[in-house]
Amino acid sequence: MAHSQNHQPYISSRAAALDGNSLGELFLLARERGAIDLALGTPGYPEPASDIIDAAYEAMRGGRNQYDHPSGDVLLRERIADTLSTPADPLTELTVTVGATEALCVALLTVVDPGDEVVLLDPGYEQFKAAIALAGAVPRFVPLHAPDWRFDPAELAAAFTPRTRAVLLNSPGNPTGRVLDRQELDQMAALCEQWDVTVICDEVYSNFVFDDRAQTSIMEVPGLAERGIVVGSLSKSYAISGWRLGFLRADPVRTQSLRRVHELTTNGAATPLQVAVGLAAVSADLKTAAQEMGRRRDLALEIFTGMGMKISPAEGGCFLFADVSPLTGGLKDSKAFVLELLDTAGVLIVPGGPSFADPSRGDQYVRIAFNRQADLLREVERRIRAARSVE
Ligand SMILES: Cc1ncc(COP(=O)(O)O)c(C=O)c1O
Repeated sequence: MAHSQNHQPYISSRAAALDGNSLGELFLLARERGAIDLALGTPGYPEPASDIIDAAYEAMRGGRNQYDHPSGDVLLRERIADTLSTPADPLTELTVTVGATEALCVALLTVVDPGDEVVLLDPGYEQFKAAIALAGAVPRFVPLHAPDWRFDPAELAAAFTPRTRAVLLNSPGNPTGRVLDRQELDQMAALCEQWDVTVICDEVYSNFVFDDRAQTSIMEVPGLAERGIVVGSLSKSYAISGWRLGFLRADPVRTQSLRRVHELTTNGAATPLQVAVGLAAVSADLKTAAQEMGRRRDLALEIFTGMGMKISPAEGGCFLFADVSPLTGGLKDSKAFVLELLDTAGVLIVPGGPSFADPSRGDQYVRIAFNRQADLLREVERRIRAARSVE
């Protein structure tokens, strides 16, 4: 039988609908120019604790190299429970995942059916749109309004319909740095109860909240707690984003279903790495790390507002979301601004577009990661000053 020479691979509409990484070209340029990367949230600060690294080595040497409990190493689940603001049963309510990235997909696949609607805030974490698409669901965006990135309660209420199955939140937020306050969470709770929907909240930055502000988990809010799934991560808190460790927190009934999906997606995260954090994480000083991160936020604010950007200080997380229109006079979009900064100062930040449902809303914004070593941020300052003195 003759084989066809021009076979076209069939790609599912689910996969074909995904945009892929819109920033690939920028990263290539940045690498060519030896630029300082303030684009991604990859931790440059804090440093991974050396006892966690030693413990990983010992776990591997000690023979912990095979499949283990798909729901996660029990000691690690206990350690994670110790870091949460309200009690969670490690055996029935916590599941270790391959980063928050897996946790997010598992949560959506467990909760929504194709065609269901998911309410989310806009701008928000880029992966949310894609994960909702992968689950075959329909996003219903609620705009956050500049300069302080709050939602209008009437616009939030209008996003709910009989098809709403879930609300997907992120607090502290990427890219805005907003920490949803109790009043906002109570407004969410009233609507989630009224429409009987599940709330999924990405709380990966919960350890990085600044200025003595309180981080309120959805698990502390009546109306959200009993219908909530928390997506968490060790990537940022312990600066081990490459270890790919995250977790899901939910009530025992939802957890059983989440675990079935998780058994299909990955069947568990890397055993020795889980064991290592389980044994060693006690020594990580999350409070000091949060204060140090706050100082980096201040330094980044000083550098970029000094340059002329307008920025509402991040309340938490690791990003500044900055308005560059005072610098561009609205004449160029933020991608052109980002390319110019890369060219003149050798500093890479990202355009705001990908964070918005309608990318043109991001034309005047850029996102800047500040979870970096202070010396690196000072070098950024030096480079920007030097570039501006030539202008
Ligand atoms: C809001 C948010 N959620 C999740 C992630 C990914 O977390 P993980 O490394 O645990 O997959 C990131 C990474 O930048 C993020 O900003």
